Amino acid sequence: MIADMHCHVVYGVDDGSKDWEMTKQMLQKAVENDVRILCCTSHAIPARGPFPWDTYLQHMQEMGEYINSEGLPLTLYTGCEIMYTEEAARMARRGELPTLGQSRYVLVEFMPITDWGQITVAAREFSNHGLKMVCAHVERYACLHEDMDRLYELHEDYGVICQMNASTILRSHGLFGDKFAKKALKAGLIDLAASDSHNVTERACNLKACYEMLRKDYGSEMASSLLEDMPQQILHR
Ligand SMILES: [Fe+2]
Repeated sequence: MIADMHCHVVYGVDDGSKDWEMTKQMLQKAVENDVRILCCTSHAIPARGPFPWDTYLQHMQEMGEYINSEGLPLTLYTGCEIMYTEEAARMARRGELPTLGQSRYVLVEFMPITDWGQITVAAREFSNHGLKMVCAHVERYACLHEDMDRLYELHEDYGVICQMNASTILRSHGLFGDKFAKKALKAGLIDLAASDSHNVTERACNLKACYEMLRKDYGSEMASSLLEDMPQQILHR
């Protein structure tokens, strides 16, 4: 059962879905991609002010009603993609950070130019407060490109779940594919794949193709691990 643990399907709260029509299309698109679990991770930027919970939850409810009325085989979970700042760390200390499906896992992103020190400080900070960090789209950070062993360190020393976007994984295929992604996947340094979908056009859900490619290039076990097993671990532990 494929789960998408990172997507921007809730309309009107971030740069993802822009309206109710697009949200409906994104839900249909997820189903077409064999996705059965959707964790709706809208952007939260604690430094810029409070997350619009009322709107988010109201739109989530609307989505749930649509899923029921259409009989779509989808289960929705709440979540946020949190931009790491000192305010995010303060929220972790106060137990106020939104997690993935109310688990103890938090999806966290950084600025692309963030330094290695900040990523490790964040991982330690969350861990000190009983949370586990899921590092969003690890392929975006220059400090991890500089030294790929850091992915291993994140996993082994900090207990971080390393997430890669499906679009990047799809680009890793073939002789001239994305080298960072290919090397990281081959070395088993990626724990979770997700769509990070924002719409139904250039940033659409593509998890069916991603699953197939992972299966062909790295084997069924790897495809299941990144798109089925790890999400279950996140949601149910
Ligand atoms: Fe995202």
